[in-house]
Amino acid sequence: MDRVGEKERAYIQEVLNGQFSSSNTYQMVTRLETSFAEKFHVKHAVAMVNGTATLHMALEAAGVGPGDEVICPPLTMSSTSIAVLHANAVPVFADVDRDTFLITAANIKKVITKKTKAIITVSLYGLAPQMEEIMEVARNHHLTVIEDNAECYGAYQEGKPVGTFGDMASYSFQSSKHLTAGEGGIVITNSDELADKLRRYSGLGYAGISGKKGRITKDDIQSPDYERHVILGWNYRMADLCAAVALGQTERMEELVEVRRKAAAYYEEQARGCEWLHPQVVRDGNVHSYWTYVMRLDTEKVDWHRFRDKYLELGGDGIYAAWKLTYQEPMFRDKAFLNREKLGIYDSCNYNDVHCVNAEFLQPRLLQFKTNYYNSEEAKEQAEILGKTIQYFNEEQGM
Ligand SMILES: Cc1ncc(COP(=O)(O)O)c(C=O)c1O
Repeated sequence: MDRVGEKERAYIQEVLNGQFSSSNTYQMVTRLETSFAEKFHVKHAVAMVNGTATLHMALEAAGVGPGDEVICPPLTMSSTSIAVLHANAVPVFADVDRDTFLITAANIKKVITKKTKAIITVSLYGLAPQMEEIMEVARNHHLTVIEDNAECYGAYQEGKPVGTFGDMASYSFQSSKHLTAGEGGIVITNSDELADKLRRYSGLGYAGISGKKGRITKDDIQSPDYERHVILGWNYRMADLCAAVALGQTERMEELVEVRRKAAAYYEEQARGCEWLHPQVVRDGNVHSYWTYVMRLDTEKVDWHRFRDKYLELGGDGIYAAWKLTYQEPMFRDKAFLNREKLGIYDSCNYNDVHCVNAEFLQPRLLQFKTNYYNSEEAKEQAEILGKTIQYFNEEQGM
């Protein structure tokens, strides 16, 4: 199976055939948004340039501003918290669970203050945290919940599509994701008000656009009386060429997710019974979408780097580590937040003092295996190499 197929090519051709005329502009974006919203059974989808901009706009739409606190997990790609800084707000870190690697309601509760305005949950590696529990905490404290589902397409929890629990859910079409357009992002919501804000804030604050309407009418745009900018906005709109690819991918979502699930099943089979490798635990009621297949290395006898070296030596494609925890990145430690110190709101933050013990335990121990093998023989082969690597260390260490 090709990752990029005939549909994507045909939609790109349609955009090119349209010659970028004003009457065609953003039509493909509208089609992508309609298709994506239908796929998730939600009222609105607003497409943007990437899955960092989507988080930023979701925060702005939620009314998050200078000095507000936003709770996030530290074990994630750092865009989750970078978007909070883009909104001039303060990222506050809640620890994750050692078995699921996910943020929990109990840990969120511990860091809520009077300044907390929102929570960004992360469906890490394709698995959602326990959303009903988190939503209950959010409702009790009047907090907006944004699901960062950049790594999670086509997952379910308690029979409901992941992405439909929070007030908004954000997706990325960056090249490593289940669905890709090279770059790109989209936010979904059932709220008309949030959708209007998402559209307007990501579209330069233009009048005449709304959640359902991404294009300005010809009569408006050509009129000398048209007052364009009714509010400050960013130019985060997705391009039609990007939307063409994302639309094709959205229509093929199930098969693209299935590729990943199949690869994960092969890895799972090979790792079964190994007492020193523990896969991300999938709690009852969850369907994982396996952006990657991730295991915790639970032995002091095997060094992380040696495990990866042996896997590569035996023909493995590669193993990724978990990202450094967000607050461990130099940018956070040094508060290199550009000129935001002028706001005065970061004076009391010292990310060197932040410690999420479970996340710190996990980060150096996680092994991330790729699942994007569009040829299932290749996926099987990679999983078999994992099996051989495990066997090698079992024999070497007498485990
Ligand atoms: C959890 C998470 N959030 C946000 C992003 C940011 O998305 P993008 O690269 O499209 O900006 C990514 C991936 O890149 C991600 O993995």
